[in-house]
Amino acid sequence: MDVRTATGPLDADRLAEWYAVPPEARDRTWVRGSFITSLDGRATGPGGLSGGLNAGSEGDHAAFHHVREQADVVVVGAGTIRSEGYGPLPRVNLAVVTRSGDVPDKVLDRSPGDGEVVVISGDGAEVTPRQVLDEVGRRGWRSVVIEGGPSLFAPWVRAGLVDELCVTVRPVLVGGDGPLLVPASARFDDLVGRATHVLVWGGDVLVRTRLR
Ligand SMILES: NC(=O)c1ccc[n+]([C@@H]2O[C@H](COP(=O)([O-])OP(=O)(O)OC[C@H]3O[C@@H](n4cnc5c(N)ncnc54)[C@H](OP(=O)(O)O)[C@@H]3O)[C@@H](O)[C@H]2O)c1
Repeated sequence: MDVRTATGPLDADRLAEWYAVPPEARDRTWVRGSFITSLDGRATGPGGLSGGLNAGSEGDHAAFHHVREQADVVVVGAGTIRSEGYGPLPRVNLAVVTRSGDVPDKVLDRSPGDGEVVVISGDGAEVTPRQVLDEVGRRGWRSVVIEGGPSLFAPWVRAGLVDELCVTVRPVLVGGDGPLLVPASARFDDLVGRATHVLVWGGDVLVRTRLR
């Protein structure tokens, strides 16, 4: 498969085309992971949030927005909901995955124009990726974007259910013991992924990587 390359900034039309769900996937479920990482694989910046990594990255903000634009539903773990202060999303549905059910009320407080919010709770048990896909599939949502965090995401990769990653690599080192993009406990038998799109924008590298 050829690798497309470009240098940003890209305008809105080119970004929409760059991040379009592939035509062969439009009639089926298409699962994307949307993340930012440092060179040392950290998912958070010095402040302990992803905002510490993406601050000042025009490319990441543009990519994040356009990947969301392609989504029927954004799937997020309750840890990220709590730490990043997520609420309902304009125009796109949100699925929150939790064992504990500890989800702030704000998540359910929708304004006009916001998408639906679904809390998928395991009532104390783990929710499998397949259960999440069944829940969102029941609602007819097929373009699925997982925005994290890392502990939610790894089982999806292990289960072979992620079609592609859209990742911004920031050319910085974070160090410390913050979360890795994929937790150290995750084990894959082989290297996974091959790039299809590489966009260099203001020193950041934005990669689309096919996982299956
Ligand atoms: N770099 C990036 O792109 C990016 C993206 C997202 C988040 N982050 C950062 O990552 C950090 C959070 O990392 P994290 O890995 O702890 O986040 P997380 O996966 O969002 O949160 C973990 C929590 O989500 C719920 N959860 C995850 N997997 C589950 C499953 N299979 N079944 C049931 N519940 C499940 C559980 O919630 P309960 O505790 O309610 O049971 C669990 O405690 C934050 O600091 C955030 O800023 C970075």
